[in-house]
Amino acid sequence: MMVREWDPRTAPSVEIEAVLATLNAAQSVDLPDDPQWRIDAFREYLAVTMPGERRVCWLAESSPGAAARGEPVLGEANILLLGDIGVIEVCVHPKARRGGLGRELLGAAIRRAYSEGFASIGVEVVGGTPAIDFYEHHGFRCAYVEIRNVLKLSSVDWMRLGEMATGVGSGYHIEYYPGGPPEELYEAYAEAKEIVRESYDLGDLELRPSSYDPNRLRASLTTLHARGLKPYIVLGIHEKTGKVAGLTEVVVPAQRPTRADQYDTIVVPAHRGYGLGRAIKARMLFELRSSEPRLTEVQTWNAFENEPMLKVNAELGFLPDRQWREYEADVPDLVRLLNLAGP
Ligand SMILES: CC(C)(COP(=O)(O)OP(=O)(O)OC[C@H]1O[C@@H](n2cnc3c(N)ncnc32)[C@H](O)[C@@H]1OP(=O)(O)O)[C@@H](O)C(=O)NCCC(=O)NCCS
Repeated sequence: MMVREWDPRTAPSVEIEAVLATLNAAQSVDLPDDPQWRIDAFREYLAVTMPGERRVCWLAESSPGAAARGEPVLGEANILLLGDIGVIEVCVHPKARRGGLGRELLGAAIRRAYSEGFASIGVEVVGGTPAIDFYEHHGFRCAYVEIRNVLKLSSVDWMRLGEMATGVGSGYHIEYYPGGPPEELYEAYAEAKEIVRESYDLGDLELRPSSYDPNRLRASLTTLHARGLKPYIVLGIHEKTGKVAGLTEVVVPAQRPTRADQYDTIVVPAHRGYGLGRAIKARMLFELRSSEPRLTEVQTWNAFENEPMLKVNAELGFLPDRQWREYEADVPDLVRLLNLAGP
């Protein structure tokens, strides 16, 4: 068994396929109800990052060149180096688990974080999977817990949803933008996000950072498209001021076109209580139904304490699924624990 650094930008296609197969094998054990990943834009999904961020990857093979010969990959790990935190992912093929490979892959990522001067690392861990025991065994602390909610489009009451989509107070209108908001709305869009960010201290690690200024928003949309993730945006516009009063973002991945990810939904505090949150999310579902015929489900993540959003999601038919836990650890502690400091 050997672990080596691996670059998805230049790797042969057969290796990209081998990594995909291992990810799907892991998922069918850990998250059996989730749709399998497809090869469409999978290389881009692994290779592309936001400007200023880097992802470093490792592969575990049974012998040198095994993946290039089309043999299954035993495991994969990567670390996304962003700002002042590294975000890791470790995945071991179910047939290769409990033999120390997860620990070895984790070690490779931590060694890199240490040599690049990162003080802490974070990881998203799915509740009810062996990864919880794995990270807790390595001293990771749970920093934040969200609940994933899944909506089956087949369960949606479209008549009722139609009433929600139009049930918005006077003085607002709803706009739909497949692909992202138009350039002239970037400023207003980013401003709405910034106002809401300032009004909360959600306490999470920002492993999925949001876009609070127009330039970052532009870069973020470009990156989404380049990774095969198609964004859809619905906005609630306050007619008197032209400001963005509410927004909701959904992404449909080329790699999993049957299940969309609902990203941020935001209603600016001054515009709450007019039915905007419900209306923009309901309108989004109508648009997705006609634009993405392969789509069968939408998933979203909510904090326990975000009661207004939980209520809107419940009205739309989202059902709570699993915990999604953010863990963190200090790099020097892991270097000691994993004995990585030596030559
Ligand atoms: C978490 C994961 C990486 C662990 O890989 P692994 O190779 O089995 O881990 P290791 O053998 O290095 O285990 C190291 C330690 O972690 C703990 N651990 C790992 N798996 C465990 C389990 N199933 N139950 C309890 N403890 C566990 C143990 O303390 C273990 O030490 P031990 O075997 O000496 O008792 C692996 O289960 C995995 O890939 N899970 C899926 C993660 C993922 O991201 N999935 C995404 C698609 S759903």
